[in-house]
Amino acid sequence: MKLIYGTAWKKERTAELVELALKTGFKGVDTACQPKHYNEPGVGEGIANSGIKREDLFLQTKFTSIAGQDPETIPYDPSAPLEAQIKKSLETSLVNLKTDYLDSLVMHSLMNSFEETLEGWKVMESFVRDGKVRQLGISNCYDDEYFKALYEKTELKPAVLQNRFYADSGYDVELRAFCKDKGITYQSFWTLSANPHILEGQTVMDLAKKYGTTPAVILYRCLSETGVVPLCGTKSEVHMKEDLALYDFEISADEVSRVIPS
Ligand SMILES: NC(=O)c1ccc[n+]([C@@H]2O[C@H](COP(=O)([O-])OP(=O)(O)OC[C@H]3O[C@@H](n4cnc5c(N)ncnc54)[C@H](OP(=O)(O)O)[C@@H]3O)[C@@H](O)[C@H]2O)c1
Repeated sequence: MKLIYGTAWKKERTAELVELALKTGFKGVDTACQPKHYNEPGVGEGIANSGIKREDLFLQTKFTSIAGQDPETIPYDPSAPLEAQIKKSLETSLVNLKTDYLDSLVMHSLMNSFEETLEGWKVMESFVRDGKVRQLGISNCYDDEYFKALYEKTELKPAVLQNRFYADSGYDVELRAFCKDKGITYQSFWTLSANPHILEGQTVMDLAKKYGTTPAVILYRCLSETGVVPLCGTKSEVHMKEDLALYDFEISADEVSRVIPS
Protein backbone atom coordinates (compact mmCIF):
# COMPACT_ATOMS: atom_id res chain seq x y z
CA MET A 1 0.00 0.00 0.00
CA LYS A 2 1.58 3.27 -1.16
CA LEU A 3 -0.78 5.84 0.39
CA ILE A 4 -3.36 5.61 3.18
CA TYR A 5 -6.47 7.79 3.28
CA GLY A 6 -6.55 9.88 6.47
CA THR A 7 -9.96 10.67 7.91
CA ALA A 8 -9.30 13.38 10.52
CA TRP A 9 -11.25 16.66 10.56
CA LYS A 10 -13.89 15.64 8.00
CA LYS A 11 -16.80 15.83 10.42
CA GLU A 12 -20.17 15.38 8.71
CA ARG A 13 -18.47 14.96 5.31
CA THR A 14 -16.57 11.88 6.53
CA ALA A 15 -18.81 9.18 5.03
CA GLU A 16 -19.04 10.91 1.66
CA LEU A 17 -15.27 11.51 1.46
CA VAL A 18 -14.29 8.01 2.60
CA GLU A 19 -16.63 6.52 0.01
CA LEU A 20 -15.14 8.80 -2.65
CA ALA A 21 -11.55 7.96 -1.63
CA LEU A 22 -12.23 4.22 -1.79
CA LYS A 23 -14.05 4.45 -5.10
CA THR A 24 -11.16 6.54 -6.46
CA GLY A 25 -8.67 3.84 -5.54
CA PHE A 26 -7.45 4.16 -1.95
CA LYS A 27 -7.23 0.76 -0.28
CA GLY A 28 -6.15 1.80 3.20
CA VAL A 29 -7.98 3.98 5.74
CA ASP A 30 -6.64 5.56 8.92
CA THR A 31 -8.97 6.75 11.65
CA ALA A 32 -9.15 6.90 15.46
CA CYS A 33 -11.59 6.33 18.30
CA GLN A 34 -11.25 10.01 19.13
CA PRO A 35 -14.48 11.92 18.43
CA LYS A 36 -12.65 15.22 18.97
CA HIS A 37 -10.91 14.88 15.59
CA TYR A 38 -12.41 11.83 13.85
CA ASN A 39 -15.94 10.80 12.94
CA GLU A 40 -15.30 7.05 13.15
CA PRO A 41 -18.96 6.04 12.59
CA GLY A 42 -18.86 8.14 9.41
CA VAL A 43 -15.77 6.20 8.30
CA GLY A 44 -17.69 2.94 8.77
CA GLU A 45 -20.61 4.33 6.81
CA GLY A 46 -18.36 5.46 3.96
CA ILE A 47 -16.71 2.04 3.79
CA ALA A 48 -20.10 0.31 3.72
CA ASN A 49 -21.38 2.67 1.01
CA SER A 50 -18.31 2.04 -1.14
CA GLY A 51 -19.36 -1.58 -1.58
CA ILE A 52 -15.73 -2.67 -1.41
CA LYS A 53 -15.17 -6.04 0.24
CA ARG A 54 -13.68 -5.98 3.73
CA GLU A 55 -10.83 -8.30 2.75
CA ASP A 56 -9.74 -5.87 0.03
CA LEU A 57 -9.24 -3.06 2.55
CA PHE A 58 -6.66 -2.15 5.17
CA LEU A 59 -8.43 -0.60 8.18
CA GLN A 60 -6.43 1.11 10.87
CA THR A 61 -7.70 2.90 13.94
CA LYS A 62 -6.22 4.15 17.19
CA PHE A 63 -6.68 3.96 20.91
CA THR A 64 -6.49 7.53 22.19
CA SER A 65 -5.70 8.03 25.87
CA ILE A 66 -7.66 10.43 28.09
CA ALA A 67 -5.07 13.15 27.48
CA GLY A 68 -5.94 13.19 23.76
CA GLN A 69 -9.72 13.17 24.20
CA ASP A 70 -12.23 15.98 24.56
CA PRO A 71 -13.54 15.49 28.15
CA GLU A 72 -17.10 15.80 26.78
CA THR A 73 -16.79 12.96 24.25
CA ILE A 74 -14.46 10.34 25.76
CA PRO A 75 -15.49 7.02 24.15
CA TYR A 76 -14.91 5.00 27.35
CA ASP A 77 -15.21 5.42 31.10
CA PRO A 78 -12.17 7.55 32.04
CA SER A 79 -12.30 6.31 35.62
CA ALA A 80 -12.07 2.65 34.54
CA PRO A 81 -8.69 0.87 34.64
CA LEU A 82 -6.52 1.27 31.52
CA GLU A 83 -7.27 -2.27 30.32
CA ALA A 84 -11.03 -1.60 30.36
CA GLN A 85 -10.55 1.73 28.56
CA ILE A 86 -8.61 0.12 25.73
CA LYS A 87 -11.04 -2.80 25.44
CA LYS A 88 -14.01 -0.44 25.28
CA SER A 89 -12.22 1.69 22.68
CA LEU A 90 -11.57 -1.36 20.49
CA GLU A 91 -15.15 -2.61 20.79
CA THR A 92 -16.43 0.85 19.86
CA SER A 93 -14.14 0.98 16.82
CA LEU A 94 -15.27 -2.45 15.62
CA VAL A 95 -18.91 -1.35 15.87
CA ASN A 96 -18.20 2.02 14.21
CA LEU A 97 -16.28 0.42 11.37
CA LYS A 98 -18.80 -2.42 11.01
CA THR A 99 -16.13 -5.10 11.10
CA ASP A 100 -15.00 -7.96 13.34
CA TYR A 101 -11.28 -7.28 12.93
CA LEU A 102 -8.86 -4.43 12.35
CA ASP A 103 -5.81 -4.69 10.15
CA SER A 104 -3.93 -2.32 12.42
CA LEU A 105 -4.44 -0.81 15.87
CA VAL A 106 -2.24 2.13 16.83
CA MET A 107 -1.60 3.61 20.27
CA HIS A 108 -2.22 7.29 19.46
CA SER A 109 0.48 8.67 21.74
CA LEU A 110 2.81 7.65 24.54
CA MET A 111 1.16 7.07 27.90
CA ASN A 112 2.21 8.94 31.05
CA SER A 113 5.16 6.62 31.69
CA PHE A 114 7.03 3.93 29.78
CA GLU A 115 5.56 1.33 32.13
CA GLU A 116 2.05 2.53 31.35
CA THR A 117 2.78 2.39 27.61
CA LEU A 118 3.92 -1.23 28.05
CA GLU A 119 0.82 -2.01 30.11
CA GLY A 120 -1.41 -0.64 27.35
CA TRP A 121 0.61 -2.46 24.72
CA LYS A 122 0.05 -5.77 26.48
CA VAL A 123 -3.71 -5.19 26.36
CA MET A 124 -3.42 -4.48 22.63
CA GLU A 125 -1.36 -7.67 22.19
CA SER A 126 -4.24 -9.67 23.64
CA PHE A 127 -6.47 -8.41 20.78
CA VAL A 128 -4.02 -9.88 18.26
CA ARG A 129 -4.06 -13.22 20.10
CA ASP A 130 -7.89 -13.12 20.01
CA GLY A 131 -7.92 -12.48 16.25
CA LYS A 132 -9.56 -9.05 16.57
CA VAL A 133 -6.50 -7.15 15.37
CA ARG A 134 -3.82 -8.17 12.87
CA GLN A 135 -0.96 -5.87 13.87
CA LEU A 136 -0.04 -3.09 16.30
CA GLY A 137 1.56 0.30 16.04
CA ILE A 138 2.35 3.48 17.92
CA SER A 139 2.10 7.15 17.01
CA ASN A 140 3.75 10.40 18.10
CA CYS A 141 6.91 8.72 19.37
CA TYR A 142 9.85 10.92 18.43
CA ASP A 143 12.40 9.57 20.89
CA ASP A 144 14.70 6.97 19.29
CA GLU A 145 15.60 5.37 22.61
CA TYR A 146 11.98 5.13 23.74
CA PHE A 147 10.89 3.48 20.50
CA LYS A 148 13.82 1.06 20.52
CA ALA A 149 13.09 0.15 24.16
CA LEU A 150 9.45 -0.48 23.27
CA TYR A 151 10.63 -2.70 20.43
CA GLU A 152 12.93 -4.61 22.80
CA LYS A 153 10.47 -5.04 25.65
CA THR A 154 7.37 -6.07 23.74
CA GLU A 155 6.44 -9.60 22.83
CA LEU A 156 4.58 -8.50 19.72
CA LYS A 157 6.74 -5.87 18.05
CA PRO A 158 5.37 -2.63 16.62
CA ALA A 159 4.51 -3.02 12.92
CA VAL A 160 3.78 0.70 12.47
CA LEU A 161 5.26 4.00 13.61
CA GLN A 162 2.99 6.90 12.68
CA ASN A 163 4.71 10.27 13.09
CA ARG A 164 4.71 13.88 11.96
CA PHE A 165 7.16 14.26 9.11
CA TYR A 166 8.67 17.61 9.97
CA ALA A 167 11.86 19.54 10.54
CA ASP A 168 11.49 19.82 14.34
CA SER A 169 12.14 16.07 14.72
CA GLY A 170 14.98 16.16 12.21
CA TYR A 171 12.57 14.22 9.97
CA ASP A 172 13.04 11.17 12.20
CA VAL A 173 16.12 10.17 10.22
CA GLU A 174 17.30 7.64 12.82
CA LEU A 175 13.82 6.31 13.56
CA ARG A 176 13.11 5.82 9.88
CA ALA A 177 16.38 3.90 9.49
CA PHE A 178 15.48 1.73 12.50
CA CYS A 179 12.02 1.05 11.06
CA LYS A 180 13.50 0.06 7.73
CA ASP A 181 15.96 -2.27 9.40
CA LYS A 182 13.22 -3.98 11.46
CA GLY A 183 10.55 -4.11 8.76
CA ILE A 184 8.34 -1.57 10.56
CA THR A 185 6.17 0.67 8.37
CA TYR A 186 6.80 4.34 9.02
CA GLN A 187 3.60 6.29 8.26
CA SER A 188 3.94 10.06 7.86
CA PHE A 189 1.44 12.80 8.61
CA TRP A 190 1.71 16.60 8.25
CA THR A 191 3.65 15.53 5.16
CA LEU A 192 2.43 18.45 3.07
CA SER A 193 1.31 20.98 5.67
CA ALA A 194 4.61 20.98 7.61
CA ASN A 195 6.80 21.17 4.53
CA PRO A 196 5.98 24.14 2.29
CA HIS A 197 9.72 24.84 2.05
CA ILE A 198 10.26 21.42 0.44
CA LEU A 199 7.17 21.66 -1.78
CA GLU A 200 8.05 25.16 -2.95
CA GLY A 201 11.79 24.48 -3.22
CA GLN A 202 13.49 24.42 -6.62
CA THR A 203 14.30 20.68 -6.50
CA VAL A 204 10.70 19.57 -6.06
CA MET A 205 9.32 22.22 -8.43
CA ASP A 206 11.74 21.09 -11.17
CA LEU A 207 10.85 17.42 -10.65
CA ALA A 208 7.12 18.19 -10.75
CA LYS A 209 7.61 19.99 -14.06
CA LYS A 210 9.83 17.23 -15.48
CA TYR A 211 7.31 14.47 -14.63
CA GLY A 212 4.16 16.47 -15.35
CA THR A 213 2.80 16.18 -11.84
CA THR A 214 2.42 18.27 -8.67
CA PRO A 215 4.96 18.99 -5.92
CA ALA A 216 2.72 17.08 -3.48
CA VAL A 217 2.91 13.95 -5.63
CA ILE A 218 6.70 14.29 -5.93
CA LEU A 219 7.02 14.41 -2.14
CA TYR A 220 4.65 11.45 -1.64
CA ARG A 221 6.48 9.43 -4.30
CA CYS A 222 9.95 10.20 -2.92
CA LEU A 223 8.82 9.21 0.58
CA SER A 224 7.28 6.05 -0.81
CA GLU A 225 10.58 5.20 -2.51
CA THR A 226 12.25 5.26 0.91
CA GLY A 227 9.62 2.92 2.39
CA VAL A 228 7.46 5.57 4.07
CA VAL A 229 3.67 5.33 3.68
CA PRO A 230 2.22 8.85 3.72
CA LEU A 231 -1.24 9.49 5.14
CA CYS A 232 -3.19 11.62 2.72
CA GLY A 233 -6.29 13.39 3.96
CA THR A 234 -7.31 15.42 0.94
CA LYS A 235 -10.95 16.41 0.48
CA SER A 236 -10.46 17.01 -3.23
CA GLU A 237 -11.26 14.39 -5.85
CA VAL A 238 -8.70 15.98 -8.19
CA HIS A 239 -5.98 15.61 -5.56
CA MET A 240 -7.05 12.03 -4.81
CA LYS A 241 -6.62 11.11 -8.48
CA GLU A 242 -3.31 12.96 -8.83
CA ASP A 243 -1.93 11.43 -5.63
CA LEU A 244 -2.94 7.87 -6.53
CA ALA A 245 -1.03 8.24 -9.82
CA LEU A 246 2.22 8.59 -7.87
CA TYR A 247 3.74 5.55 -9.59
CA ASP A 248 2.86 6.64 -13.12
CA PHE A 249 6.40 7.89 -13.80
CA GLU A 250 9.96 6.72 -13.16
CA ILE A 251 12.11 8.68 -10.75
CA SER A 252 15.79 8.04 -10.08
CA ALA A 253 17.35 7.19 -6.72
CA ASP A 254 19.48 10.31 -7.04
CA GLU A 255 16.40 12.49 -7.45
CA VAL A 256 14.75 10.87 -4.41
CA SER A 257 17.84 11.48 -2.31
CA ARG A 258 17.80 15.17 -3.25
CA VAL A 259 14.24 15.51 -1.88
CA ILE A 260 14.15 13.39 1.27
CA PRO A 261 16.32 14.42 4.24
CA SER A 262 18.60 11.54 5.27
N1 LIG B 1 -1.36 10.17 14.64
C1 LIG B 1 -1.67 11.45 14.75
O1 LIG B 1 -1.52 12.06 15.82
C2 LIG B 1 -2.18 12.18 13.55
C3 LIG B 1 -2.21 13.59 13.56
C4 LIG B 1 -2.67 14.24 12.42
C5 LIG B 1 -3.09 13.51 11.32
N2 LIG B 1 -3.08 12.14 11.36
C6 LIG B 1 -3.57 11.34 10.21
O2 LIG B 1 -2.96 11.82 9.02
C7 LIG B 1 -3.96 12.16 8.07
C8 LIG B 1 -3.44 13.26 7.18
O3 LIG B 1 -3.34 14.46 7.92
P1 LIG B 1 -2.28 15.58 7.58
O4 LIG B 1 -2.16 16.44 8.79
O5 LIG B 1 -1.02 14.95 7.06
O6 LIG B 1 -2.88 16.46 6.45
P2 LIG B 1 -3.98 16.24 5.36
O7 LIG B 1 -5.28 16.04 6.08
O8 LIG B 1 -3.53 15.20 4.40
O9 LIG B 1 -4.06 17.67 4.70
C9 LIG B 1 -3.28 18.02 3.65
C10 LIG B 1 -3.58 19.45 3.26
O10 LIG B 1 -2.87 19.67 2.08
C11 LIG B 1 -3.78 20.06 1.05
N3 LIG B 1 -3.34 19.50 -0.23
C12 LIG B 1 -2.92 20.22 -1.29
N4 LIG B 1 -2.58 19.42 -2.30
C13 LIG B 1 -2.78 18.16 -1.90
C14 LIG B 1 -2.61 16.91 -2.52
N5 LIG B 1 -2.17 16.79 -3.78
N6 LIG B 1 -2.88 15.81 -1.81
C15 LIG B 1 -3.33 15.92 -0.56
N7 LIG B 1 -3.53 17.09 0.09
C16 LIG B 1 -3.26 18.22 -0.59
C17 LIG B 1 -5.12 19.52 1.46
O11 LIG B 1 -6.14 20.29 0.87
P3 LIG B 1 -7.25 19.61 -0.07
O12 LIG B 1 -8.21 18.93 0.84
O13 LIG B 1 -7.83 20.74 -0.79
O14 LIG B 1 -6.55 18.63 -0.97
C18 LIG B 1 -5.06 19.69 2.98
O15 LIG B 1 -5.40 21.00 3.34
C19 LIG B 1 -5.17 12.53 8.93
O16 LIG B 1 -6.39 12.47 8.24
C20 LIG B 1 -5.08 11.47 10.00
O17 LIG B 1 -5.59 10.24 9.51
C21 LIG B 1 -2.62 11.47 12.45
